[in-house]
Amino acid sequence: MDYEQSLALALQPLDISEEAASTSIASKIAEVDGLFTFPAVAAAVTELFEDDNYDMKKVAAVINRDPAMASKILRVANSAAFSRGDSSDISLEKAVIKLGRSNVTEALYSVATMGLFPNVSGYALDVRDHSASCGAICRQLASDLDPEHIEGAFLCGLMHDIGKLLLIASKELIYFNAESSVLSLPESSIPLERLELGYDHGVLTGQVLWKWNIPSPVPQVVALHHLPVSSFKDSEFAKLISIVRVASVIDRQLMYSFTGLSDLISKLVKSDDGKLISLDESYLEEHWTKFLELRTEALMVFK
Ligand SMILES: [Fe+2]
Repeated sequence: MDYEQSLALALQPLDISEEAASTSIASKIAEVDGLFTFPAVAAAVTELFEDDNYDMKKVAAVINRDPAMASKILRVANSAAFSRGDSSDISLEKAVIKLGRSNVTEALYSVATMGLFPNVSGYALDVRDHSASCGAICRQLASDLDPEHIEGAFLCGLMHDIGKLLLIASKELIYFNAESSVLSLPESSIPLERLELGYDHGVLTGQVLWKWNIPSPVPQVVALHHLPVSSFKDSEFAKLISIVRVASVIDRQLMYSFTGLSDLISKLVKSDDGKLISLDESYLEEHWTKFLELRTEALMVFK
């Protein structure tokens, strides 16, 4: 199956109300719930933030109870995606005060999520690296092209393919049965997933994130990231969904260079996603080195 055929099949809308798919997805979520649990500190911080009069010093103190997590959050806070070249903070308390509630939540959940998959290899490692990188690239794209939705953009990018990691970890799907060259393409795993499972990893990710109480708009955005633009163009988060899809293509180009850069840029600009977020060639050309730097740094931060 070539890329065009795979893409055409992937973009057929999926009716997740079909009994087989909904039964299968429900049992998968239940299984995932038993296998993967967020660290207690994530729940404790979320609880503190539920009170609008939350105290950032208390938040920092709770995070500091888990020193490994605290140092990773500090690394995320000081990364280019969040700090924008400001001077680095060495104290977690100063960092969380500067970040604010929404950014602290994003940094915390991103560290907790990546911590669920610490020792992966092969295709799972590619997916993990892709997730880390897409978080940073999404935040950059949202900041430049959809600033209204910058909150959540990092988590949307970082979490959009977590369903794939869950499927690999629970041995639900053997992705290696697919041609490995095809796996480097953004929509490549979708036909296999829909054929074998009745749903795709985007839908699974969205459902799992609802269960994990990940704040809106992340579950909605990731659930739709493999549906055609026509099916979500009227959604409040349409631009953010397209940003995730564009970030995914950008990152795969950085990772595999499967086509010439100028060809890829031209295709992206002309794509439905590109039109929806008003991408232009000069923006992508000017930011390409930045995207590569964000990828390199993200891989270090979440190592
Ligand atoms: Fe995906």
